[in-house]
Amino acid sequence: MEFNSKLLEELVKTYGPSGNETRICNYIKGQIENYVDEIIIDSLGNLIARKKGNGKKIMIAAHMDQIGLMVTDIDDNGFLRFTNIGGVSPLVSLHQHVIFENGVLGIIAKEPVEDISKLRLSNMYIDIGVKDKKEAESLVNIGDVCVYLPHYCENENTVFTSALDDRIGCYIAIEAIKAIENPINDLYFVFTAQEEVGTRGAKTSAYRIDPDICISIDVTGSGDTPKAKTFAVGLGKGTAIKVKDQSILTHPKLRNIMIEVAKNNNIPYQLEVLEYGGTDSGAVHLTKEGVPSGVISIPTRYVHSTTEMVSKNDVMNSLKLLIKLLEHNIEF
Ligand code: CO
Ligand code: ZN
Repeated sequence: MEFNSKLLEELVKTYGPSGNETRICNYIKGQIENYVDEIIIDSLGNLIARKKGNGKKIMIAAHMDQIGLMVTDIDDNGFLRFTNIGGVSPLVSLHQHVIFENGVLGIIAKEPVEDISKLRLSNMYIDIGVKDKKEAESLVNIGDVCVYLPHYCENENTVFTSALDDRIGCYIAIEAIKAIENPINDLYFVFTAQEEVGTRGAKTSAYRIDPDICISIDVTGSGDTPKAKTFAVGLGKGTAIKVKDQSILTHPKLRNIMIEVAKNNNIPYQLEVLEYGGTDSGAVHLTKEGVPSGVISIPTRYVHSTTEMVSKNDVMNSLKLLIKLLEHNIEF
């Protein structure tokens, strides 16, 4: 299987901040509808696609929402104040380009601040290049959400762009849907909504599906950059099998099956103990009486910035692990 740059570029360039996933949902639906048996969009906006099989009912979750900035106020000169949708850093946001769903462009700027380390989102504004409030109001409304303007770059081994969190997970799920022809397990691929504001879509979709087990696919950090906090995950060293983050201790039996499948198929892997953050499995594993859950993580530098970075080999190894795992006769 080849690395599909076109698919990933289209995924990261399609608008879809938390709560406004319609465009990205429609894009993904178009990619997968010919490869699945059933497809529905639930009331929270989760896209749920089933590939029928007779084995275990497996939920595969990749979140399709991305972080964004929501307009809170428009001043007399047409400058926009904003709040965060998900984890948005002031320093990372400064001087970045943004784009609204209707295509309106802007940049993020700041009031004069003496100590840059004290920069807060409340001292910042979006400049959309208009002359006054009236012109601004003809382009954007209070409550509209913009995202970092996507700029896709890659070299032979690496991709750098915004929104790899978690369009890279969506990419892997889509490629797995296309690759698996005769599923032995009963597969429910869920492109979840509103992960970045607290794994909200994962909660309702897991309740509906009531899976036997769940695998999430999401980015994790990396500990391989200068003076990084100690973290035994790095780019180019393989897919990462999560042991824990702040939302979950992954199920040891499922984790061991994932490790065994990786070993048996010569897939390079790393074990991930993340001391912050969480993902959809954190919500799913607490559904009803509990759902044994694991996570396939993609080692990523600079998460929640405009220049997130992944290794293409790690992505392909994560995809391979997912496919082999789903094709495995899982005894639980
Ligand atoms: Co995130
Ligand atoms: Zn994520």
